[in-house]
Amino acid sequence: MRKKIVAGNWKMNNDSEQTDALLEDILAKKPEFTNAKIVVAPSFINLQAAVQKTHGTNIIVAAQNMHQSESGAFTGEVSVGMLKSIKVNTVILGHSERRAYFGETNALLAQKVDTALKHNLTIIFCFGEELADRQSSNHFNVVESQLREGLFHISESDWASVVLAYEPVWAIGTGETASPEQAQEMHAFIRTLLRENVGDKIAEETSILYGGSVKPDNAKEIFSKPDVDGGLIGGASLKANDFLGIVAGIE
Ligand code: G3H
Repeated sequence: MRKKIVAGNWKMNNDSEQTDALLEDILAKKPEFTNAKIVVAPSFINLQAAVQKTHGTNIIVAAQNMHQSESGAFTGEVSVGMLKSIKVNTVILGHSERRAYFGETNALLAQKVDTALKHNLTIIFCFGEELADRQSSNHFNVVESQLREGLFHISESDWASVVLAYEPVWAIGTGETASPEQAQEMHAFIRTLLRENVGDKIAEETSILYGGSVKPDNAKEIFSKPDVDGGLIGGASLKANDFLGIVAGIE
C-alpha cells in the first residue's frame, strides 16, 4: 500500500511569527485524524522553530532545497548536514522555480539527489513540463528526461526514500489545474516508466504526488485517481483551513 502524502510548500512566504501562527493553526485543527502523511516546508530560516513546534505531532518538516556539496565556500547556501543537525530529514528537490529561476538542471539535481540519499534524507523530487511542451505534445518526453537524467541512476534500495511530485509548470500558481484525467494520464505514464526501468515493486510502492493549483474544492477528485497519491500544495498551504481541507480530500 502506497503512502498518501499532502505536502505544503510555503515557498518564500511567512516570517517567523507567521510560521509559528500557521503551525499553531494547523495543529489546533487536529490533523492527526487523517490517513495522509502531512509535510510542511517553511523557509530555511524558520525550519528549526518548525521542527520544535511540531515535535511529537504527525507533521513532518521539510526543506525546500539544499546544496549538492557537503560543505565549502558556497556563500548563502545550506548543506545536508545543516538540515540533519536540526532534525530536518526531508527535502524538496527540483521544484520548477528552482529549475527556472536558479538554473537547476537535471544533471545538477542528480548530484543533489545523491548527496541527500547519502545522508538518508527523504526526497520529494519535483518535475513537470512547461505549457509549450504540452501544446507541442512533448510533455511525456520532457517528464521522462527529467526522471532519467535526475533520478533513475539511484540504487534500488534508495527508492524507499523517494517521493515523486509531478507539477505541470502551467498549473503552478495560475489557478489552472490539470484536470483529474490529465493528472491520472501522466501519473500512469510515470508509473509505467518506473515499472520498465526500476521494477514492479518500486513502481507499486512509490508515491506520486500532483502539484499545481490544488485547492480544497478540487483535491478530492484529483486524489481519487488511482495513480495520484496526494499533492504538493503551494498557495493553498498558506492557510490552515485550506491546507487541511485539501488533506481531507485523501480518503
Ligand atoms: O510546490 C507547489 C507547487 O508549486 C504548486 O503551487 O499550489 O500554488 O499552484 P500552487
